[in-house]
Amino acid sequence: MSRASDDVIHATPKRQLGSKPALNTDIQIEMPPSNHNQTFQLPAILARVLGRPIDDLSFQDAVLQGYTRHNVRGEDYPAIINEKALHALIGNDINQLSKDDLSTRGTVIAGLKPKDIQLLDVFEGDEYWRISAKMTTFGTKHTQDQVSLDREESATGSTVAQVYVWSAPVLRLEPKIWSFAEFVRDKAEAWATLNDHEFTAVEASRTLAVDEHGLVGKTVQGFPDFGHGMKKHWGFDPKYTNLNHGSYGTPPLVVFEAKEKLARKMDLAIDRYMRRELEPTIEEIRKQLAPMINATAEEVVLVPNTTHGVNTISVNIDWKDGDVIVVYATTYNAVSQTVKCICDRNPGVKLEIILVDLPCYHSEIIENTEAVFAKYNKPTGKTRGGSEPAVATGVNDKERVRLVVVDSIASMPGIEYPWERITQLCHNYGVLSLVDAAHSFGQHHVDVQKSDPDFFISNCHKWLMTFRGGAIMYVAKRNQCLVRSSFPTGHYYESERYPTTGYDHPWVFAKQYSWNGTTDFTSYLTIPEAINFRQDIGGEDRIIAYNHSLAVAGGKRLAKRWGTRFMDNDKGELTACMSNVELPNFPIAKDGNDAVKMNRFIENALLFDYNAYAAPFYYNNAWWARFSAQVWLELEDFDYLADCFEKIGKRLDAGEHLLPFDTNRE
Ligand SMILES: Cc1ncc(COP(=O)(O)O)c(C=O)c1O
Repeated sequence: MSRASDDVIHATPKRQLGSKPALNTDIQIEMPPSNHNQTFQLPAILARVLGRPIDDLSFQDAVLQGYTRHNVRGEDYPAIINEKALHALIGNDINQLSKDDLSTRGTVIAGLKPKDIQLLDVFEGDEYWRISAKMTTFGTKHTQDQVSLDREESATGSTVAQVYVWSAPVLRLEPKIWSFAEFVRDKAEAWATLNDHEFTAVEASRTLAVDEHGLVGKTVQGFPDFGHGMKKHWGFDPKYTNLNHGSYGTPPLVVFEAKEKLARKMDLAIDRYMRRELEPTIEEIRKQLAPMINATAEEVVLVPNTTHGVNTISVNIDWKDGDVIVVYATTYNAVSQTVKCICDRNPGVKLEIILVDLPCYHSEIIENTEAVFAKYNKPTGKTRGGSEPAVATGVNDKERVRLVVVDSIASMPGIEYPWERITQLCHNYGVLSLVDAAHSFGQHHVDVQKSDPDFFISNCHKWLMTFRGGAIMYVAKRNQCLVRSSFPTGHYYESERYPTTGYDHPWVFAKQYSWNGTTDFTSYLTIPEAINFRQDIGGEDRIIAYNHSLAVAGGKRLAKRWGTRFMDNDKGELTACMSNVELPNFPIAKDGNDAVKMNRFIENALLFDYNAYAAPFYYNNAWWARFSAQVWLELEDFDYLADCFEKIGKRLDAGEHLLPFDTNRE
């Protein structure tokens, strides 16, 4: 979708803010009057979001046919949906609605610039996406001072404008059609007093300049420039070009130094450190990490890595005959092997794999997921997790989907999943959601209050730049009773059958993980160092915005150079900070074994001949590479990798991968 200066139909923005600039969002039709003087709020809020005077914009009444507006349950803001979604919400009652009911009135704002649209996207958040639609206009165009609550009555033409429509589950909406009069009566007050925090994300985004290549926040006053100048903060081989931060992450030098110092400090008097300092320090780190995903410290523990966390959850669940575990075709191999292992141990439990044909729309992944859930489970009507673990009721009494493992960002291809909408879907089918968020922390913003997953595990050592290994494992309070033991079980476990006697030893979820075997704790203990470093170089918003924009610009650049595919859809839903690009003129693999051999050759050539890496993979009968953007990279690094891949493609064509490998590389 073009981000050019199409007109935008605008109305009540919602109060909950997403903060990722690339996502489409909602702009509703009416802005509330202020509670004091009945003046129209739209211009004031708009000016605040855009951060500039808006006297160059024009405003015109308009009606969007075929869309209705509904209140979002439990929120002050409404959302627009199309007839298909309305049918899903109210069924055949749709037939009783008049043509007028099936339309949405609002204001078209003309004259917005691409940067304005980007800011509106941020303000509206990620429960919405922006689509183009034809609408009927009324009266004439006004300036901001002439905008009023009075409706123009005479249709004067039509226009194509952009509009934000609801993309989250329709169940979160009230079936009743939203009434502007009721909104003014009941909610206007809340709207007239929008807090500063409603604008935090948009203000962070506004301060980040976009350069001529579309890179966001490369230069920010008071902070170092992103790009090659940042390399001095890492210990890379100067000849090595690293476009694969996604696999293992790489901590900056300050983290190495802190780790070394800490290791020495611990051993000055190891008993004092282990017995008195270690656990309180880990508790402090949990307290620091939890708010970063909008969780509480009691819901968050540290585990060595995502594989470990997924295993911890999986082995704890009390599997029952007839339970179905759902994964996706792109689920990370070690994770799907974990699930297979669970099925092997519990023959009554089976696996179902959802096929995903990429690139596709998020809505298709959601539809495929819902089709599987609905095949097995009865809907619960719930939109939130509540205070008890999910209970799945099967459409028959034999089988039910008990758990879905969904990636927040898949590994290969490295694409963003609609995980927040899938966790919501889970509530409606009584399915437990386990989010494999190995790539989340530091790559995109996460809010577990909003997305309400059951379990969420994210590596810190990948995108948060901490030392390997360390991961955050979030378990919603309601589910902590399902995860009785850490893995391995430790001192703080408390058996229900054989309770500890002689002294108080209560079972506390987080305690299980504060000591479950002696290990090198320094990776955990230097997490604050990585967080401080990220703040020192400009903070989460800047890092994420730069990496996302570099991934998109770099990926598109290579696809253009090669005339191949950049794996995304026209809504830009799939790319976070890794881009996936089809490689040019790479021979098709004869079979799976041939693909493995070719992959090994490509990796060897990158690592040993060209001193570089971006992760190659074979997907749907074509060769692709995943390019991880990071703050030390620039577009010319993508060009270097492009040169390498072009040479490798020719070498594969010549059959070099069939020759015996250099044994040093095996
Ligand atoms: C999607 C996904 N899940 C899980 C993992 C496993 O992470 P770890 O090796 O840190 O356990 C990875 C690693 O790349 C991954 O990409």
